[in-house]
Amino acid sequence: MSLIPKETVDQILAQADITEVVGDFVSLKKKGQNMWACCPFHHEKSPSFSVSPAKGIYKCFGCGKAGNSVQFIMDVEGTSFPEALKYLAKKYGIDIPEETADPEYAKEQNERDSLFIVSDFANNHYQQNLHQHEQGGIGQSYLKQRSLGSNTIRKFELGYSLDAWSDLTDTALKAGFQQKYLEATGLTIAKEDGKKYDRFRGRVMFPIHNISGRVVGFGARTLKTNDKKSPKYLNSPESEIYHKSNVLYGLFQAKQAIRMQDMCYMVEGYLDVLSLHQGGIENVVASSGTSLTEGQIKLISRYTQNITVLYDGDAAGIKASLRGIDLILESGLNVSVVTFPEGEDPDSYIHKVGDTAFKAFIEQNAQDFISFKTSLYAEEAKGNPVKKAEAIKEIVASIAKIPDSIKRTVFFRSCSLIFDIDEQALISEYNKIQLQDRRQQPKTGSPSFDASFEQYDAPFPTLEPEPEQEESDVDVLKRYEREIVRMLLNYPDQILEEGMTTCQYMLEQLEDVEFKTPLYARLLVLVKDKLCTGVIPTAEDFINFPDQDIRTEATNLLSDPHELSHNWETHHIFVPTEKDLLPYGAERAVLRLKWRNVGLMVKTEMEKLRLVTDPQEQMRQLQFIRNLTTLYSQLGDMLGIVVNR
Ligand code: UTP
Ligand code: MN
Repeated sequence: MSLIPKETVDQILAQADITEVVGDFVSLKKKGQNMWACCPFHHEKSPSFSVSPAKGIYKCFGCGKAGNSVQFIMDVEGTSFPEALKYLAKKYGIDIPEETADPEYAKEQNERDSLFIVSDFANNHYQQNLHQHEQGGIGQSYLKQRSLGSNTIRKFELGYSLDAWSDLTDTALKAGFQQKYLEATGLTIAKEDGKKYDRFRGRVMFPIHNISGRVVGFGARTLKTNDKKSPKYLNSPESEIYHKSNVLYGLFQAKQAIRMQDMCYMVEGYLDVLSLHQGGIENVVASSGTSLTEGQIKLISRYTQNITVLYDGDAAGIKASLRGIDLILESGLNVSVVTFPEGEDPDSYIHKVGDTAFKAFIEQNAQDFISFKTSLYAEEAKGNPVKKAEAIKEIVASIAKIPDSIKRTVFFRSCSLIFDIDEQALISEYNKIQLQDRRQQPKTGSPSFDASFEQYDAPFPTLEPEPEQEESDVDVLKRYEREIVRMLLNYPDQILEEGMTTCQYMLEQLEDVEFKTPLYARLLVLVKDKLCTGVIPTAEDFINFPDQDIRTEATNLLSDPHELSHNWETHHIFVPTEKDLLPYGAERAVLRLKWRNVGLMVKTEMEKLRLVTDPQEQMRQLQFIRNLTTLYSQLGDMLGIVVNR
């Protein structure tokens, strides 16, 4: 790899058409000057992701991602700037001339590039072996025996390494590759006496791709089922291009599906990935038998906030990997787990029960991670006080990782019931951990509910200046309810979608929501009453209303400024009016109120739980609270809310 000359960069920028580039990933629909789609970067039901062909940029009004074609590729593919440029150059058939500027840098890049090229060569060679060489039949029949079809084999570029000492090394050297690169990638092993041989021999080859699809290493399975001497899988060693902690097997093939399904399934083995993929579950990656790293979680979180870990059915293995999951919790991602019957792994199980039953099984058996861990330990600690104390410590440590305080509270309560231990004891254990953590990293602030959500709330201005200190629940609700009434009265008859007006949409959405602020509750009723008589109400209707409070508020609502925030204009991006974005704004206003209401319901129901003494009743109430918490998370997800500590 070398530096890309400025003229070439300019040429790429000039030629890359934003709608074409984005159109490869989402389907855009024209609306007015711009094109719209559901955002590829966060989960949503109605489009807030826009592309301006005239300006050559995209902008999501939900999650705030914005930029030009190059930025889009960087965001969607998770690549660096030069890699994004290369992607576009390839798409538009633009040659990137070699230019060496900084010789040190160029050398390093050349080295890396050489490793990529030699890996690519090996990958092609192994595939040719599988499909064309006479020995390839051995590999083919093995794959057939594992029920893998030719589409899956091609898609994952599976290959075969010949059962010979140095087939790959010899072929590569003959083709002009330097031995040092073959050694650096671990494909060739050189002895001190100069003898060289292939690392992978007589094995089915699983190339490992990085996120932009380049081969960085291999996993290789032996075909000898009973050979205890050689390991079942051999893997490429770490190299300049293969950092195991930053790669997940299958992510390249899965990333689109992960984004679309808003879920990533995590399995252990290569074969698990392939079998699930073949069975129509494409949003699956493998940790390749090791525990997850922070880097791997970061990779996944580019595409989704939801991970479901599919465990092989043996308890010892499960306990060993629980630690890795705390890391996922810490990153704020939602974790569920599914366990399979004893002796089964996802690969064996999907072949046993079939695709449809398999999908149903994971849906029915997914359990949130903390509850799973709690029951696992509770089972074990039965009647053993020492074990019980340890178990509680373990679980509190996991709960402490969860950034959202509402979720934490619910888990403390459920843990206290399952273990029959005072909640206060758990909380003081938690406080101990907090204190330790804070000593270690002095920067972390105190936990708080929803401290950071407003910043995600562009593009609508909040009417009051941001509150300095924490707002009371009542005030927050008041603000959200007011925003809804303001939209209702300012744009009552504007068509949002499918011929539905703002009034119709909002009232339908709010059918089961009760406004807590008396003034807005009254206004909402007045709007409803008007609508019932067939009149679309406006603020003017209420400006002369007999009641002074209603009159004043209607006047205020009508004269409120609705310009977009200034911070918005400084993005140098086309600035749509509130009216343009009303379908989006109305949806968010409703969602936000619902989200906050559900959050408060969780609090209330938790209080009620305290008064319940009957164990069965407790469990029922707890289940109810858990369902509410799930709903709360879902609403938060839809709003793109990230809760900070
Ligand atoms: P498993 O032993 O569960 O293998 O290891 P598997 O994936 O089910 O393989 P099959 O079905 O027997 O072919 C899970 C993962 O751990 C890594 C591999 O990534 C494997 O997919 N592993 C396992 C190794 O790296 N080396 C080994 O010797 C064994
Ligand atoms: Mn297996």
